[in-house]
Amino acid sequence: MAISIGENNVFLLNTKNCSYSFSVDQEGLLRHLYWGARIDTIEDFKNEPYVWEQGFHPLNDVKREECSSFGTMRFKETSFKVTYADGVRDFRYRYVGHTIENGELTVLLEDMVYPLQMHLHYKVYEDVDIIEKRRTVKNCGNEVISVERLHSGECSLPGAGWNLKNFNGMWNSDFDAYEQRIMGGKTVLESLRGTTGHVANPSFILYQNAGETYGEVYYGALAWSGNFKIVLEQTPYEYLNILAGMSDTDFEWRLTGGATLETPALYLGYSPDGFDRMSNAMGEFSRRYVMPKPMAAKPLSVLYNSWEATYFDVNEQAQVQLIEKAAQIGVELFVMDDGWFGQRSDDHAGLGDWRVNAVKFPNGLAPLTEKLKSYGMQFGLWIEPEMVNHDSELYRAHSDWVYHYASRPVMEGRYQYMLDLTRQDVQQYIIGEIDQLLTENDISYIKWDMNRGLSEVASAMLDRSEFKSIWYRHTKGFYHIIQSLRALHPEVEWEACASGGGRVDYGAMQYFEEFWPSDNTDPLDRLSIQEGYSYLYPIKYMRAWVTDSGNNGKRAMPLLFRLHCSMCGALGIGLNLNECKEEEFELLEKYVGLYKEIRSIIQFGQLHRLASLPMDGLQAVQYENGKESVLFAFLDHPSRWRTAFTIRPRGLDAKTCYRVEIEGQQQQKYSGAFLMNSGLTITLNHDYASCMVRLLPES
Ligand code: DGJ
Repeated sequence: MAISIGENNVFLLNTKNCSYSFSVDQEGLLRHLYWGARIDTIEDFKNEPYVWEQGFHPLNDVKREECSSFGTMRFKETSFKVTYADGVRDFRYRYVGHTIENGELTVLLEDMVYPLQMHLHYKVYEDVDIIEKRRTVKNCGNEVISVERLHSGECSLPGAGWNLKNFNGMWNSDFDAYEQRIMGGKTVLESLRGTTGHVANPSFILYQNAGETYGEVYYGALAWSGNFKIVLEQTPYEYLNILAGMSDTDFEWRLTGGATLETPALYLGYSPDGFDRMSNAMGEFSRRYVMPKPMAAKPLSVLYNSWEATYFDVNEQAQVQLIEKAAQIGVELFVMDDGWFGQRSDDHAGLGDWRVNAVKFPNGLAPLTEKLKSYGMQFGLWIEPEMVNHDSELYRAHSDWVYHYASRPVMEGRYQYMLDLTRQDVQQYIIGEIDQLLTENDISYIKWDMNRGLSEVASAMLDRSEFKSIWYRHTKGFYHIIQSLRALHPEVEWEACASGGGRVDYGAMQYFEEFWPSDNTDPLDRLSIQEGYSYLYPIKYMRAWVTDSGNNGKRAMPLLFRLHCSMCGALGIGLNLNECKEEEFELLEKYVGLYKEIRSIIQFGQLHRLASLPMDGLQAVQYENGKESVLFAFLDHPSRWRTAFTIRPRGLDAKTCYRVEIEGQQQQKYSGAFLMNSGLTITLNHDYASCMVRLLPES
C-alpha cells in the first residue's frame, strides 16, 4: 500500500523502491523519521518518546522534524514563520487529524491558541519513486495573519558528510554542474530575480558515495518559477535538515480571515543506483505526470529558428527564402524569432506591441504561413509577453503598468521594463493580444521568452503593505496567463525560454512543451550544458539547434560535430541556410532524416551518461529503448596520442546479438554481455571528431 498509518501514529509512504516516514510524537508534533530504501514493516518505526532533560540542547533542534516554526525555541532554520495580529510570532501547533482522499494524504495541524491551520499534503508516485509534498495554511479567524515564510516541505537525512550537486551559471553559461561537500552551517540555493534564473536551479541532489551507476541518491525539485530558496543545514545533531520552497528573503503574505495560501509542490526522489537511475526516473515522472498532454507522448518536431541567422533583421523576403531551404532539408516547424512586431529593429523598442511590423511584413504573416502550408510545415513565433520597452506604443499608453517606484526612474534591464502581472488589466491585455495573434494567424508554436528579472516590486494597484507579496503574485500571474492562453488555443505548442535556460523548472514544465536550455550554441560548451541539464530534466524537453560555426565568438567546428551534438536533444536548426554550401545541405538533409528515424529513442528512451569531458577525455552519451541504442561520442582534441576509446553501453540484453553501425557503416556483431562488459572501441583521431553509433538487435 502506498500510504499506511500505524497504530503508533507512524505514517509510512512507500513507492516501488523507496519509503518516507514521519510520526506524531508524544507532544503532538511531527517528527521526520525516515527517507530512503524501501522498508515495508511499519512496526519498525518505533516512535519512542523523547527523553529530554532541559539542558543545553534545545529539544526541537535535536529532533528531525517534518514541520518546524520560527521562534519556538528552535534556532535552526525553520520552514514556517508567522506573525499574528497581536504580535505573537510563532506557530505552536498540535496534530489534529488526517484524511486520505484520491490517493492524497493530508495531515492537519492547528495552532493551540490562534485560529491558524496548516495542511500538509502528500502524494505518492509509486512507479517513479517520487513523493510530492505541498502545504496550505488557512486563517480560520477574522484578523489578518502575516505569513513571512512558508516552505513547501521539510525533511532530513541522518549523519553528516553529504555532498550536494547543483547547477551554477549565468547567461550563456547555463547548467554548470558542480559538487560540494556540505560542512557545518547552512548551504543556501536561492533566486531573488522573480524567476528561476541561471545562478542556481530550484532542485538539489544529495549523496554520500554515489556515481552514475552506484550509490544512494536523494533528490528534490520545486515546481516553482519564481523566487525560491533551498536551505541545507548541517545541524550539530547528526542530521542534515532540508527545507525547500518559495524564498522568504523578501516575502510577506497577509492572510485575511477565511483565506488560504498554498505552496508550490516539492518533488522528492530516491535512487538506490546512482545518478543514471535518478535522471531516468525524473524523465518518466515528467512525461507521465508533469508535462502537458497530449504532446508529452509525442516526439517534438525538427524545427528551424531564425534567431542566429537573421537576428532582428527579419522580413518577408528573407524569411520566405529560409523557409524554402528549411523545407528542402526536412524541417517540420519554422519559428521566426525576435524582430517581427512593433517598431522592433533592435532590443531598444517594440516589446509590448504584439502586432506584425507592416514595413517588414507588408502582407502580414500570410505569405509565410501559406508557403509553409504548401510544404506541409508548421509556423511558430517568438514573443516576450511579460515585458515592455520604453519605446513602445504600450508604454506610451500605460506607463503605470510596469513595476516601479513613483519617485524614481524605472530601472532597465536589456532596455526593457517588467509588466506588473499582479494587475488583472495587464493580464487581460497580454491574454487579449496573444489570443488575437493566434486567432488571426496560422500559428502552431510559440517561443515565450523572458529576459530580465523583477526589480522595484511596487504596484499601483496594491497597498504598500502588500508589496512583499508581489514576487508570489507575479509568478501566479504568469501561470494564469499561460494557462488561459493554453485553454483558448489548446492546439498550440509552447516553448519556455528565459535568456536561455533561466526558466527550467518543474513549475514551468506544467505549461510548456519544451525548454530552451541555453543561448550558448557552441557545441563544445553545449555538451557540458546538456549534460548538466540532463541530471534532472528530460531530454524530450531540451531543444538543441545546429548553428553557424565561428560566429559570435564560437569556435569553428565541423558541421557533423554540431549535428551530433544537437541530435542529443530535440533537434533544431539555427543556421543561416541562405549561406550554406551544397555539401552542407546534403549533410543536413541526411542527418535530419536520420534524426527522425531515431528521435523516439532519444526523446523517450533511457539516457546513459557514459563518459564526460574533461574527466574521461571523451564525451559519450547513450539512448536506448530496451531494444535499440543510439550512442554519440565527441572528442575535443586528441591528447597524448590517445585516439582509441572504449565505451561500455548500458541497458542491453546480455544474450541478444547486436549489429554495430558507426555512421551508417556496418561493423562487427557482439553480444549484449560483451558490449556492456568488455566494451566497444571507437576511434576519434582529430580535433572535434564525433560519431554516431547504433546498436541494432539481430532478430
Ligand atoms: C533570448 C533568447 O534566449 C534567444 O534565443 C532569442 O530568442 C533572443 N532572446 C531574442 O531576443
